[in-house]
Amino acid sequence: MLDQLSKLWNTAFGSLPPEVIVRAPGRVNIIGEHTDYNEGWVMPGAMSRSLYILVSKAQPPNPLRRGSRSTESLSPPLPPNTSTSLSNRGGSKKHHWIAADLNEELQFDHLENIPLTQSIWAKYILGALHVYENDLGPLHIMIGGDLPIGAGVSSSSSLVGGLLLALQRLTGDQKTKQELAQLSSRVEREIIGLQGGIMDQYAIMLSEADKVMMLDCRKKTFEFISASIPGTQWVLLNTKVKHQLIDSDYNQRAAQCKQAVEIIQKQFSGVKSLRDADEDMLLKSNLPEVLYRRSHFVIEENRRVHEMKAALENKDAIKAGHLLQASHYGLQYHYEVSCDELNHLANLANQTDGVCGGRMMGGGFGGCVICLVADEAMEMFEKKAMDSYQKQFGFEPEVIHFSLSGGAEVIGP
Ligand code: GLA
Repeated sequence: MLDQLSKLWNTAFGSLPPEVIVRAPGRVNIIGEHTDYNEGWVMPGAMSRSLYILVSKAQPPNPLRRGSRSTESLSPPLPPNTSTSLSNRGGSKKHHWIAADLNEELQFDHLENIPLTQSIWAKYILGALHVYENDLGPLHIMIGGDLPIGAGVSSSSSLVGGLLLALQRLTGDQKTKQELAQLSSRVEREIIGLQGGIMDQYAIMLSEADKVMMLDCRKKTFEFISASIPGTQWVLLNTKVKHQLIDSDYNQRAAQCKQAVEIIQKQFSGVKSLRDADEDMLLKSNLPEVLYRRSHFVIEENRRVHEMKAALENKDAIKAGHLLQASHYGLQYHYEVSCDELNHLANLANQTDGVCGGRMMGGGFGGCVICLVADEAMEMFEKKAMDSYQKQFGFEPEVIHFSLSGGAEVIGP
């Protein structure tokens, strides 16, 4: 994979290798959905499928203009008092960004002239450059890898987090991975406009191999636990659909949770977010029916994260499966972020012998179902899922086997 990207790099940018290469993994989540922006708990991990991000500062067109600020830097020296605005330090060098998997590229002089059109990936790159606030001038960037895009494994956060890590390496500054994760979630909220939490960014930046992270999204503290239960495997089934509703519906759910908190606070002033609420408070607050269902789901889902921790520690596959089933039920009927394709695969998982349980994963409205399956049932379940999904929807889902990897890392040059 990386070999192919390196060859492409040479073709596009000549034989000078990239100054930094980062591997940024995708994100899986065992349980704890739509709890992160409610300051609750989540249990994500980084998956073995990754995005690779290759970056260099753009070369000046005329070698005589090379500066002497650093032995490594090929940028022209900056005059004193030069503005640090992202858009005015490029000189005549050009930004050149390539999304290898999508076969797309963009070239332009200044960030303000970026031809955005359909290129959502470029918007994420732009967002990362904005929040980083340490301008390096025009960049050569190439991205590619084996992480499925639009499958609910957070390829966008992987791109942003990975690029921020690359920028940190290029600038040599001291930001910690936790700071980079927080910057990364600002891109999502402030630039892209998705009112998300911190789950994806923390998992992508800070995960440990073979572990999942139990993350407290209010305190921003976490511990690592093993998600492996002997005799079983975690697997993803990718519906290969992404319904366009996601952004507006996601933000609407976040807004509904906020509204619910405002109502609950009238009687229970100590409630700062749904993390602090319980069922009794919901009943006494006379919430409108929809807000009641949303809040009730969040309270139960937070509880399930803690129960899942105990189930994993006890290696109790049956209990873990029941928690997945209950989570999917709540996401489908109470939080209403599922869709027919996800329901089909989750219901199949929850009705098949040898499958402990399954549920939709991530923001919803498409993407993947995560399932816990007994080793001996895996082959049969995969076939059953393929056949019945094909029959129902006219195309096959993708089965994604994965291991849990470490977080984003600099791997080269
Ligand atoms: C998306 C968001 C996360 C989280 C999940 C739902 O992946 O980016 O912050 O809210 O949805 O759990």
